[in-house]
Amino acid sequence: MSTDVSPSKQIPHIRELPLLGSFRDFTGDRLGLFMRISQECPEIGAFQVGPMRMLLITSGQLAQSVLINQADEFFSGKLLQALVPLMGARNLIIIHGDEHRQQRKLLAPAFQPRRLSDFAAVMADYAAQMVAGWAEGEVIDITEQMPLVTMRVVGKTLFDVDFKHEARELNDAMTVSVDYLDYLSSSLVPLPLSWPTPRNARTRRALATIRNQQTAIIEERRRNPGKDMLSSLIGFRDENGQGLTDEQLRDHASTIFVAGHETVAIGMSWTWYLLQHNPEVYAKLRQEVDSVLGGRLPTAEDLPKLSYTLQVVKEAMRLYPPGYIISRAPLHDTRVNGYEMKTSDTLLISPYTLHRNPELYPEPEKFLPERFAPEAEKARPRYSYIPFSAGPHTCLGNFFALMEAQLLLSVMVQRVNLEALPNQKVVAHPGVSLRMSSYKLRVSRRAPVERPQAHVASA
Ligand code: HEM
Repeated sequence: MSTDVSPSKQIPHIRELPLLGSFRDFTGDRLGLFMRISQECPEIGAFQVGPMRMLLITSGQLAQSVLINQADEFFSGKLLQALVPLMGARNLIIIHGDEHRQQRKLLAPAFQPRRLSDFAAVMADYAAQMVAGWAEGEVIDITEQMPLVTMRVVGKTLFDVDFKHEARELNDAMTVSVDYLDYLSSSLVPLPLSWPTPRNARTRRALATIRNQQTAIIEERRRNPGKDMLSSLIGFRDENGQGLTDEQLRDHASTIFVAGHETVAIGMSWTWYLLQHNPEVYAKLRQEVDSVLGGRLPTAEDLPKLSYTLQVVKEAMRLYPPGYIISRAPLHDTRVNGYEMKTSDTLLISPYTLHRNPELYPEPEKFLPERFAPEAEKARPRYSYIPFSAGPHTCLGNFFALMEAQLLLSVMVQRVNLEALPNQKVVAHPGVSLRMSSYKLRVSRRAPVERPQAHVASA
C-alpha cells in the first residue's frame, strides 16, 4: 500500500504516433525527447515505447519521492535487466529490499573516506604514467585514453591487480558489451543472445573475456588474499559461517569493475570537451593546479585546496551526467504525490534534464563551474544535483569518483596542454550511459612548473 495521501492527479501524456508511440525518438533522439517532455510537463510526463508506458519524472520533488521517501515501493525495473549479461543477475544495481541492504553493507567499507585517501596515490601515479606515455605533438582520442586509466585505477585500488597489459583488450571487450547493452535497452524485441548473428557472436566473445578476467582475479585473490575489497568479500562469513556464493562474488566484482571505470572515463571525456570550448575556465584551472601543486603529484591532502578543479568536474557532470538515466518500476500498483503508477510502468528520472532547470541553474547550457562554489551549492535544494542518484541505491562510488576525477584532471592539466583538432563534430550517445563520440586532442608538454614555496612561519 502506498503511503501517499495527496489529492489524485492525472499524468499528462505527450502527443505521439499511434502504436509505436515515441519509439523513434526514444531510440534516435532520446535527449531531445526528454527535454521536450520536461518543457511540456512540469512534474511528470507519460510516453509510449511500443507497448511500454514510460513515465519521465521532470521535477526534483517527485524524483525525491520515488528515490527516497517511497524507495521501498520500487525496484530498478525492466530497462536495467539489460545489465544482467555484463554484471550478472545478482548485481547490486538491480537487487532490492533486504538482499540489497545486506549486500551493500558488505561492499560499503571499501569506500569509506579512510580507505579512499590510500587510493589517491594510485590515481595520481596512473594519471602521470598515462600522460608520460604521450609523445610531444601526438594526437590522442580522449574517449579511448580515459577508460584505460580508470580501469587500471579500479583494478589496483579494489582488486589489487594491475591491468596495465590487459587494459586495451578489456576496454575493447567493454565497448562491444556496452554497445550490446545499448541495443538491448532500446529495442522493442531484441534477438536472444544465443541466436547466431554477428553481433551476438561478438558480444558473447566480449562478455566471456570480461567474465574470465573476473574469475581469474577471484581465483588469484583466493590463493593470495590481500587487504583489497575483493579479498574481504571472499573472506566474509555471516553469523552462520556462510560466505558469498561464487555467483555473488563474480557479480559484485563485475559490477564494481564496470560501474567503477566506464562512468568516470565518460565524465572526464566530457570535461575535456567543455574545457576546450571554455578557454577561460581552462586557464583558471591551470592556474589553480600550478599554484597548489607546482610540479609535484597531488596527494589526498591537496584535495581541499584543488577546489576549483572539483567545481569544474561537478559542473561537467551537471551538463553531461554519465548516469543520465535512472530507472525504476513499482513493485505493486502505487501512488506518488497524487500520481497513480502501475507495475507495468517504467519510470525514468533523468539527471540530464533535472540539471537543466533554469530556475536552479540560470542559463543552463553555459559551463559555469562557479555554480559549485560552496556557498552557491548550499543555496540550492538538496536534491537538485543527482549525478550519483539518491536514496538507498545512491552510487557507492560517488566520493571515489569525485576524488579520482579531481586527481586525474589535475595531473593532466599540470603536465600537458591538450588542444582539440579543428572541425570535430562531437555527439552524445545516450545508451545505458551518456557516452561521447570520439574526440581528438593534440598533446603538447608543459614546461615544468616550480614547486610552490613552503610557508615558513616567522620567529
Ligand atoms: C562519475 C562517475 C560515476 C557516476 C556518474 C555514477 C553514477 C551512478 C548512478 C546514477 C548510480 C545509480 C543508480 C540507481 O539509483 O539506480 C550508480 C550506482 C552505483 N555505482 Fe556509480 N557512478 C560513478 C562512479 C562509480 C564508481 C567509481 C564506482 C565504484 C568504484 C561506482 C559503483 C557503483 C555501484 C556499486 C552502484 C550500485 C549501488 C546500489 O545499487 O546500491 N560508481 N552510480
